[in-house]
Amino acid sequence: MKLEDVKNVCVVGAGNMGHQISLLCAIYGYKTKCSDVVPEMLKKADNFVNNYLPGRVEKGKLTKEVAEAARKNISFTADMKEAAKDADFVIEAATEVLDLKRKIFADLDKIAPPHAILATNSSFIVSSRIVDATKRPDKVLNMHFFNPALVMKLVEVVRGPHVSEESANLTMDFCKKLEKVPVLIKKEVDGFLLNRIFRVISREALWMLDMGVASAEDIDKACVYGAGHPMGPFRLNDLTGIDLTYIMGMEGFRKSGNPADLPSPSVVEHYVKGEYGEKTGKGWYEYKKPEKK
Ligand SMILES: NC(=O)c1ccc[n+]([C@@H]2O[C@H](COP(=O)([O-])OP(=O)(O)OC[C@H]3O[C@@H](n4cnc5c(N)ncnc54)[C@H](O)[C@@H]3O)[C@@H](O)[C@H]2O)c1
Repeated sequence: MKLEDVKNVCVVGAGNMGHQISLLCAIYGYKTKCSDVVPEMLKKADNFVNNYLPGRVEKGKLTKEVAEAARKNISFTADMKEAAKDADFVIEAATEVLDLKRKIFADLDKIAPPHAILATNSSFIVSSRIVDATKRPDKVLNMHFFNPALVMKLVEVVRGPHVSEESANLTMDFCKKLEKVPVLIKKEVDGFLLNRIFRVISREALWMLDMGVASAEDIDKACVYGAGHPMGPFRLNDLTGIDLTYIMGMEGFRKSGNPADLPSPSVVEHYVKGEYGEKTGKGWYEYKKPEKK
């Protein structure tokens, strides 16, 4: 398949990442269907699109025509079969649970046309751990967007040993078509590229917090005003989700057996209280509760 043959995109999961990846594809002219198993998530995503597009037009960032076309291009459904049946490119952005992803990929393999690429946006699960749930190993890969996906330019494309050069190249080209900056990761390593670098910063930040060296606010200030980061590690973590940090820590420990990989005490504390960050109204910082629509 060539890039020009990609017309229909399916995104599985309408959460933090999925709804923005869907809208991104729709803005760039792809017919995009996004599925989720939770009706409220579908409604929330649809509301987001309705608010976002006029806002961008008002700010002069999108033309009225592009916004209108994007609104027509995107749809949300509870039925993954409906979303994936005509897809040329599928991006899975469902909850970070291996068994769930394996089940989704096994289903997608049966539903999506045989030529379709099946990509996972997983932050941690390499496609090698999913690929045997399908019968198209050369087309199953990691395509890792960053949060918020409409804004962040980087996409990590991870070429596992089963991935064909054609699929990797097509995915890189697809990213460029979406005006993203893709990087090709030639080996499957935990955390891929940028999260490996950030893991070191985040581990130090959490250690200093847990040891009472400084507050989350002051650690964030140091990173912003001393290192020029756009936001500090705690604010960033509220955006990406403390639940994801917890799951990734547990998964890291499961693999390495190294207690240093376990989520820090303060991460566990927030996790058990259901304080995942911006999406729950509280994490390292407090946020206005998202309005019910
Ligand atoms: N949050 C981030 O900053 C970030 C960044 C890059 C990648 N990721 C990855 O993206 C994926 C999604 O993360 P998120 O932060 O958007 O999570 P999220 O919890 O906000 O959204 C996940 C969505 O998946 C849905 N879902 C669960 N099972 C499903 C199924 N069978 N079919 C369809 N939808 C289903 C859930 O209802 C939920 O709406 C994860 O793999 C995560 O590792 C997250």
